[in-house]
Amino acid sequence: MEIRAISGDITALEVDAVVVNLFEGVKEPGGATGAVDRALDGAISALIADGELKGKTGASTLIHTLGKMRPKRVLVTGLGKRDKFTLDTVRRVSAESSRYLRGLGVKRAATIVHGAGIGGLEPRAAAQALAEGALLGLYRFQQYKGKPDANGSKLEELLVVEREEDKVPALQEGVERGRILAEAAALARDMVNTPANGMTPTRLAETAGEVARAHDLKLTVLEESECAEQGMGAFLGVARGSNEPPKFIVLEYAGDEADPENNLGLIGKGITFDSGGISLKPASGMGNMKGDMTGGASVIAAMQAIAQLKPKINVTAIVAATENMPSGTATKPGDVLRAMNGKTIEVDNTDAEGRLTLADAICYARGRGVKRLVDIATLTGAVRTALGNVRIGVFANDQDLADRMLRAGDAAGEKMWQLPMDEEYKELYKSNVADIKNTGGSGAGAITAAHFVGEFAEGTPWVHLDIAGVYMADRDNGVLVKGASGIPVRSLVRLTEDLAAGG
Ligand code: BES
Ligand code: MN
Ligand code: ZN
Repeated sequence: MEIRAISGDITALEVDAVVVNLFEGVKEPGGATGAVDRALDGAISALIADGELKGKTGASTLIHTLGKMRPKRVLVTGLGKRDKFTLDTVRRVSAESSRYLRGLGVKRAATIVHGAGIGGLEPRAAAQALAEGALLGLYRFQQYKGKPDANGSKLEELLVVEREEDKVPALQEGVERGRILAEAAALARDMVNTPANGMTPTRLAETAGEVARAHDLKLTVLEESECAEQGMGAFLGVARGSNEPPKFIVLEYAGDEADPENNLGLIGKGITFDSGGISLKPASGMGNMKGDMTGGASVIAAMQAIAQLKPKINVTAIVAATENMPSGTATKPGDVLRAMNGKTIEVDNTDAEGRLTLADAICYARGRGVKRLVDIATLTGAVRTALGNVRIGVFANDQDLADRMLRAGDAAGEKMWQLPMDEEYKELYKSNVADIKNTGGSGAGAITAAHFVGEFAEGTPWVHLDIAGVYMADRDNGVLVKGASGIPVRSLVRLTEDLAAGG
């Protein structure tokens, strides 16, 4: 879809539909909504008076204009209560109204910038949220469909309309940023929605290569033998069970060559299918484990946006990609593995594989001089028990970095919640035979998993995002579309920009 900011009168545009808005509780609409209401001889205020139009967040009310103005239809979208209104409301409302228009078969639409008027939002940021919301909300994954879904229609053009010409450049800038972020999230969604027989470790590395070529990033892929030379016994212990060759993917963006220490490492869990290994998972829902590479997809996708936005910081993304499969060569419960830093790990449960792959990825990053680390992983079912599908679990050994991460999540509209990492929890994964074991008993599973990963970050400032609750959406809702969520790509980009700005 094309999105373009223009100046003009929304009642006079040559489009199939125009979108205006209404806050809850407003009886007499103002601004562009008021202008449309007047053009329609008070149709909008009449609907409000009749109690049919309330302005509830994301609610859509369609009015046919019957020749009273040029666009044939007006969609009034609800903005909810004014005191609850944020940039994230704009994303949500834009997603819902765009899907509604597509459902009607609308090809060309125009919208005002929700919140830039009486909503009090900064116009550039509001336009960015509008574009993000529309593109994220209209996302579809149809690569494996012979013909498109029942409603195969497409919204082709969205005009972002502003009365005052001098405001248009800022709006256009916001639209372009929104597109970069939404396209990155869509790339992550595509990778995650692709079944495991399509998105193998090899294909994941190729996708990283496509991003690298298109956006001038440096790509290095270590093959199994090179990983062995590096001493990555934990990662390779997971890969042993699979016939698909593992790939250790390193993608680099150089945004501050004068200061190599001004850097960030983004490490994504890259299990392209998690069967559980010898500690096999139950059959029901196992297909969702094609998404166990969401962390990896997120960091590759975030790099695409970072390469386009060009913040002044160096970023290294790392994905230790492999399947976790049972076979005659697979690691067995009770086996001991040695990670790259020499730590030995008793594999108590082969289904706790993510932390093993992250261990070596983190060792490698630290060996390369990475000064701050963020890892992103669909790590534990326990985080879903704790936080459901609403918030990401955040864990950290450095409160400053954690605070920055939480702020970035807030700004991106990707909810996060920090969980504690008391030293007491470390008791739970002591091993009789090795330095540590890869499980922590029945309680606090998300915390013990985080601590395990933290053992390898050692003194490097580190944040861990457990996204196992949020990586898939079970229905269309706001910017989310059933299937891969694309979370937390936009937060990662935001954090990178904030670190680059030193803010
Ligand atoms: N990939 C899973 C975690 C997961 C669960 C992600 C549900 C997405 C949705 C992870 O590798 C895993 O299997 N974790 C185990 C750990 C346990 C064996 C200690 C879990 O959470 O049950
Ligand atoms: Mn597992
Ligand atoms: Zn897993």
